[in-house]
Amino acid sequence: MAETSSARGSWNSKLGFILAASGSAIGLGNIVFFSSNAYQYGGGAFYLPYFLALFVLGIPVMITEFGLGTMTNRSFPEALYRVAGRKAEFVGWWSLASALFITMYYVAILGWALGMMFGAFGSLFEGGVTAPFAPFSEPTDGPSATVYFFDLITTWWPLLCVVAIWTMNILILWKGTATIERAVRIFVPLMWLFMIGLIVRGLTLEGGVDGVLYLFTPDVQGIQEPAVWKGAFSQMFFSLSLGLGTMTAYASYLPKDADQVNNSLLVSFMNCGFEYIAGVAIFSLLFVFALNPVGGTLSLAFFAIPQGIAEFPWGVRLFGFLFFFLLVIAGITSSISLIEGPASALIDKFQIPRPQALAMVAVPGIVGSLFFALPQIIDPSLSGNGTLGLSLLDVMDHWAFNYSLLTVGFFECIMVGWVLGADKLRAAVNKYSKLPIGPWFDVIIKYVAPLLLGTVIVWNLIEEFTGETLYGAGADLGAFNWIPYVIPFIWLIGTLAVASYLTFGRTYKVAPAAYSPSDSPQTPA
Ligand code: PFF
Repeated sequence: MAETSSARGSWNSKLGFILAASGSAIGLGNIVFFSSNAYQYGGGAFYLPYFLALFVLGIPVMITEFGLGTMTNRSFPEALYRVAGRKAEFVGWWSLASALFITMYYVAILGWALGMMFGAFGSLFEGGVTAPFAPFSEPTDGPSATVYFFDLITTWWPLLCVVAIWTMNILILWKGTATIERAVRIFVPLMWLFMIGLIVRGLTLEGGVDGVLYLFTPDVQGIQEPAVWKGAFSQMFFSLSLGLGTMTAYASYLPKDADQVNNSLLVSFMNCGFEYIAGVAIFSLLFVFALNPVGGTLSLAFFAIPQGIAEFPWGVRLFGFLFFFLLVIAGITSSISLIEGPASALIDKFQIPRPQALAMVAVPGIVGSLFFALPQIIDPSLSGNGTLGLSLLDVMDHWAFNYSLLTVGFFECIMVGWVLGADKLRAAVNKYSKLPIGPWFDVIIKYVAPLLLGTVIVWNLIEEFTGETLYGAGADLGAFNWIPYVIPFIWLIGTLAVASYLTFGRTYKVAPAAYSPSDSPQTPA
């Protein structure tokens, strides 16, 4: 069957693809979650397992997801269908339904970051250290960025910010690869520039180097803690944007002779390089100002870092603005990929115009994001979960982050490793690779990766159901105590229902042919 790659769109250049894929990988995960994980697990204890996770899990699965894209020139569900049949297609749709849930709260966090960004030139850093949130009104003295943040999220402003972020996403995705490429050519270099600015600032403050030493001094004792390994593997998957179909969608716009080993190495190293740079910048701040990001992952970005920036001898507003602008652009280059995954899959399945596919993803997506930004206070002390939106987000993130990506990764390795045969994917990738991968790849995809991913999933489940209460059920949420019980069902039943309907309830407009190695051109470019 003739490939319709030109109708689907294609990258203008290899650089465009690398920028887009690394833009997808580099996001909130690198700036916020990596550092708070590293902090939680004791700095030097985290980076060694993390480094290992890159080689035994990250790079091989990235090669697999990129490989699927160029072998079939189709997005995730159809690519899996072609190489491993209908059941594999189901896994693909399930991952994209999960991606939509993750996009909903990812965009809500970006909405808050956008609010804080405006705050840097508003009252965030005025009136002493930082002032309470007060749009269009005189700032008053306030004790901390925490107050500003909670004041902000208990107003309706973030809902407006959420709509603004969704609008930007849709505009960037409007013409597919053409508009994505234009955006990432600006955003991705800016991201690096701002991060380097922050690192220079952090390290030139007295005491900044101590934070770096904390992050990089190996902690042999800490490594023996199994939870550190679990944290490192989950974080690696999220950080490299694996298990949600995005990398396959992006790779499907490449020519068949793209060197996917080279691309995987480039994107993985750029992502982890950025992550370590971000870690250095953040840990130097934490140490200089003796900040302790207590109270969950988001507290690092929204309380501790602005608090540190507020104490800079100069450039407070500028660096405050830059930090949140950095979060917003890094987040947008990731959220567009989260939306492109399902959108491209709908285009492939139903042959519908791009705006229609974008609408099918964006309408439920915007509604969901608005829920996560709901400002109603349900914990009056604000010491717990704060707003209704934040409570929903915390519980949803727990389930989606810990289970979706890893479960998809597990089945993807089984489908590719056992049903298609890891050697077939390896042969397809090696055909155009300057650095051919050896049989070790088959061993990883067939045995090592499923074993590691399966262990983490089972372990998570055991912890889940041997704990005193279900995740989040311990907090006093007043009239909303039902949230922790209902969210997991909405997520699980919702994603399974969408995946079943799209796999078994609807047929392809153009029936997909099974993958055959002769689909690829024989001579490397
Ligand atoms: N890698 C992104 C980050 O680190 O923030 C998040 C992400 C984007 C995860 C796209 C998964 C994905 F498919």
